[in-house]
Amino acid sequence: MKVDIVTIFPEYFAPLDLSLIGRARTSGLLDVALHDLRTWTHDVHRTVDDTPYGGGAGMVMRPEPWGEALDAVAPSGARLVVPTPTGAPFTQAAARELANAEHLVFACGRYEGIDQRVLDHAATRMPVSEVSLGDYVLFGGEVAVLVILEAVVRLLPGVLGNADSLLEESHTDGLLEAPVYTKPATWRGHDVPEILRSGDHGRIARWRRDQALLRTAARRPDLLAALSPEDLDKRDMTL
Ligand code: ADE
Repeated sequence: MKVDIVTIFPEYFAPLDLSLIGRARTSGLLDVALHDLRTWTHDVHRTVDDTPYGGGAGMVMRPEPWGEALDAVAPSGARLVVPTPTGAPFTQAAARELANAEHLVFACGRYEGIDQRVLDHAATRMPVSEVSLGDYVLFGGEVAVLVILEAVVRLLPGVLGNADSLLEESHTDGLLEAPVYTKPATWRGHDVPEILRSGDHGRIARWRRDQALLRTAARRPDLLAALSPEDLDKRDMTL
């Protein structure tokens, strides 16, 4: 997968050298290029923002540098992703969809956001997704891009050592995962649930399913309500 990131803070992306994303890059599964938006400014102050039409607090990112940047780094065939608190919620399903793309371009907004015409114009020549990490406001899109990239890159074939992890984790089947435990069996007076040490794989699977349902009901009733009847079995109903 090829990824281009346009930002006024390329330094934010140092973590992309680390851990599994770093390894995906060195192994050639992932090709990331960082671009400083100010490269496409033409005044001595390298200005990227201006006051909003209609008034109001804060500054808006000017369209000209963004237009030139996207002309340069987003050819046809790319897909543009713009993190913004006004975007559609970023979910595991959205991550799976982005993981199918060959070329992602991320546009990191700052201040009050990017002039809307940049996104409207880009949408005339490529798919554009405005996505939000959640109902809160960050200083800018950089940290959101790190989050989105981590969710997407771990889905790329070959990035995770054991691809089975992807089948068993939270949000794969629409539920939160059951609690997990490792050795020692007793720690500070707390025991690992006996059933996990029983070796009975059928009962363990059922216990994990029950725990996932109970946890999801307690913490995310919205996820439970969104499941279709086919996603639930008879035992689920009696829980
Ligand atoms: N930029 C600022 N806030 C954001 C959020 N909640 N999600 C994505 N991008 C953002």
